[in-house]
Amino acid sequence: MRTPFVAGNWKMNKAPDAAAAFVREIAPGLNAIDGIDIAVCPPFLAIPAVAQVLGGTTIGVGAQNMYYEAGGAYTGEISPTMLQGLCRYVILGHSERRALFGETDEGVNKKIKAALEYNLTPIVCVGESLAQNEAGETQSFVSGQVRAAFAGLDSWQAAVCVVAYEPIWAIGTGRSATAQQAGEIIRTSVRDVLVNMFGNDTAQAIRIQYGGSVTEGNIADYMGQPDIDGALVGGASLKASFIDLVRAAAI
Ligand code: PGA
Repeated sequence: MRTPFVAGNWKMNKAPDAAAAFVREIAPGLNAIDGIDIAVCPPFLAIPAVAQVLGGTTIGVGAQNMYYEAGGAYTGEISPTMLQGLCRYVILGHSERRALFGETDEGVNKKIKAALEYNLTPIVCVGESLAQNEAGETQSFVSGQVRAAFAGLDSWQAAVCVVAYEPIWAIGTGRSATAQQAGEIIRTSVRDVLVNMFGNDTAQAIRIQYGGSVTEGNIADYMGQPDIDGALVGGASLKASFIDLVRAAAI
């Protein structure tokens, strides 16, 4: 049995003070929900303040990105060693990073390996564009992203990773994939690919989230799909109703 996992991706929202105030507001409600792993992923600058507020709770903290080197002349980057101790999770290969900041499959693969080396749990994002979806290329594209992301990993490393399938056309658009569509792609293009790469036991241990316009109103539908183990939530994680969303996912 995989423990459900819902993570909030705050993207470029909430400066340290606002972030700390927000988690102070939502932490008691989230902490009271059993049977689910929960994380919030603030912008880098707000991570220390959020981690401090959440110390002693069951709510995890994640980063939204990192570089794969431990340190050195990499202007503007944040290393895994800087996140260690503050974060349990790190989102890697989000479609916004791939589309806007030039992230490649190869870079994402290096980042996953680095995260694992420093005991951070990667939340590996994959997902197709609207054009790819309409051209019937979803399965081949997403399978390829999964294969590239997990290339060269051992089974025990793969088993601790989390995958987030986020169709790009569903992110921030209010146009979510149906639960059935998402469940089908996750089974055929993520879980089955992982079975192929690492065997059934490992693949069944890996948690796979859906992401893209998830709300407290539709989360239960996604959780009803056998291969969907939770959600990566953007917009709806910025409001106190995130508590209701997580509660609905935990049922
Ligand atoms: P959204 O974002 O929930 O606002 O669609 C999801 C994501 O990008 O992780």
